[in-house]
Amino acid sequence: MKYNTHRTLGLLGAMMMAAAMSACAPVNATLAAGEPECNPVAAKALVKKDHCTTCHGLNKQKAGPSYSALATKYHGNPNAEADLYAHLTTGDAATMSDGHTEYHKCIANEKPEKIRNMVRWVLSQ
Ligand code: HEC
Repeated sequence: MKYNTHRTLGLLGAMMMAAAMSACAPVNATLAAGEPECNPVAAKALVKKDHCTTCHGLNKQKAGPSYSALATKYHGNPNAEADLYAHLTTGDAATMSDGHTEYHKCIANEKPEKIRNMVRWVLSQ
């Protein structure tokens, strides 16, 4: 009986891990060797650290579009990951919801794999 309980728990754990992975699937194949598909915890930490949440909500439009709206916009676009990576590392012009334009926040100082991870997370919302 005890053995079975452990087995069930192990299976549950594996299923939960699989669910967590698929919630954050890669959009295209730009993974470096050994790079995980997506780490949501690290992605959320970076978004918070770089104050992206001031202008972007998960589902709520603020000065900028919500991450879920962006994921919908880029769904099926094979260049999505590369485009958003470029967007976040070049500081191109962004039109805020009130109509004024300013340069988008540039996070080229962050590690490329951290940015890629965060982009994959945004695209999986
Ligand atoms: C001052 C407000 C502001 C901050 C801070 C900000 N953004 Fe944005 N962001 C915007 C606006 C506005 C747009 C829409 C730009 C447009 O469509 O012209 C945008 C667009 C985007 C896009 C979509 C770009 C595209 O090409 O469609 C992504 C991804 C994004 N932001 C991620 C982030 C991340 C990650 C951070 C934190 C590093 C961040 N933003 C910080 C306002 C902001």
